[in-house]
Amino acid sequence: MSVDIQSQSLCIGIVGTGAMGRGIAQIAAQAGIRVLLFDALHGAAANARETVLGTLAKLAEKGKISTEALNAASAKLDVVRRLEDLATAHVVIEAIVENLDVKKALFQQLEDIVAAECILATNTSSLSVTSIAAACKRPERVGGFHFFNPVPLMKIVEVIDGLLTAPWVAEALLALGRRMGHTAVAARDTPGFIVNHAGRGFGTEALRVLGEGIADFWEIDRVMREAAGFRMGPFELLDLTGLDVSQPVMESIYHQYYEEPRYRPSPLAAQRMVGGLLGRKTGRGFYRYANGVVEAMPVAPVPSARAASVWVSQSHPEWADIVRDIATAAGIEVETDYMPSGNALCIVTPLGADATTACVQQGLDAQRSVAIDCLFGFKAEKSARRTVMSTPLTTAAMRDAAHSLFAADGTPVSMIRDSAGFIAQRIVACIVNIGCDIAQQRVASPADIDRAVSLGLGYPKGPLAFGDLLGARNILAILEAMQDFYGDPRYRPSPWLKRRALLGVSLLTEES
Ligand code: NAI
Repeated sequence: MSVDIQSQSLCIGIVGTGAMGRGIAQIAAQAGIRVLLFDALHGAAANARETVLGTLAKLAEKGKISTEALNAASAKLDVVRRLEDLATAHVVIEAIVENLDVKKALFQQLEDIVAAECILATNTSSLSVTSIAAACKRPERVGGFHFFNPVPLMKIVEVIDGLLTAPWVAEALLALGRRMGHTAVAARDTPGFIVNHAGRGFGTEALRVLGEGIADFWEIDRVMREAAGFRMGPFELLDLTGLDVSQPVMESIYHQYYEEPRYRPSPLAAQRMVGGLLGRKTGRGFYRYANGVVEAMPVAPVPSARAASVWVSQSHPEWADIVRDIATAAGIEVETDYMPSGNALCIVTPLGADATTACVQQGLDAQRSVAIDCLFGFKAEKSARRTVMSTPLTTAAMRDAAHSLFAADGTPVSMIRDSAGFIAQRIVACIVNIGCDIAQQRVASPADIDRAVSLGLGYPKGPLAFGDLLGARNILAILEAMQDFYGDPRYRPSPWLKRRALLGVSLLTEES
């Protein structure tokens, strides 16, 4: 069995012409594929065709596509009135309501209509492809074809192999995704597939940081944007997506993995959802929005306090040198003795540990100690943000002195309460760890995991390359310190990460 995906006469049917069906129709037509649009709601498919034609016309107006391309794509779109009119389709893509029973019923109906070699694909984001296929007489021709919204801009599609999907079906869908101009990645049928699974670390860990009272949500966003390089902070993202969408996804993946602690959602988000603080769409989420404009959040002024002298821990000598350079540049005396004098501001540079643990382990006075995150926003250019945390006993005077010291060269500083793993270390370590476990579970190849996450979530790097950039051993050290501190299996390192860190090889390394 096979379908000639490159054929000039390739014809696909799209069932369900909401945002997703329309987007898929647009990129298919632009790729020269005949598209038959069907929707159960009277007039919806015709409206969808008009909308796609309008979008294509705008692209032509802006010079993004030629008039010939506009005409060619427009000629490829047809509306059909009955499901039976999809009989000639080589592939049918379902993008209807996200309901297992409704989808199963549709696939059973389609089986009686389409040709024996026609592929039946579902765009589901959260249902099991295997369970949809299992309702069919010929489950081997059913596969997942998971696009992201808005389809023409999100240039990634996950091709999901159900347990019963035949290899030729996944191969054909991969080729179809590529013909439509998208990066197509192969994934096994598992909860969240690649992208929605990999996305569990960012929001849930940020919510834990917030839940522990370590920093305000806007400060967490600033750190993740300006120190860790994310386009949006986790709370900005939650507000954009809407808690009505993201909270059920967090809960669904957590339960589908039988309460895996790595994906544990937060009661904070559940409560806000119930309270209707959904995000931009309701004018108030974590932030408030007036006419779509987000409220400005407070920035703590840089205090004028100065430390008499500073003493820097030697636990990471290369980082200690940089901290000393910053202090020297700020005109503050740097102590070089083995232990600090009685007046010195003591600075520790932990990896994964909190300020208290680092300070106690090194026999320092907690009242005079602070910790600086040296993995994120530290060495980089001026625009990077530094994160400094205090112990529960650090005096206000010492905290102010640390703030002014690290802000002296104009770098923004986030002053936070004590946290194993600061903010960025712990959130990024969770992202890398989950990415590693997706690889360990053989959901997808390491390269496809990174490709899917970079394109699907817009992270600065895929989780495995991000881990490599920061050092797999550093990520392992952060997770082990956090697991030690919290005693929570949420932070247990994935075997994939652990072995590659121990072997000193890239996290993208597959087994030979
Ligand atoms: P939507 O609600 O905007 O559109 C669904 C369309 O399907 C409607 O026009 C409706 O009339 C039609 N429909 C419902 N039941 C039908 C049936 N039995 N037969 C024919 N047509 C039927 O939904 P949207 O957002 O376009 O999503 C569609 C699918 O894509 C869902 O399975 C969803 O999980 C998946 N998806 C959605 C994403 C999103 O961000 N919206 C992202 C990735 C996947």
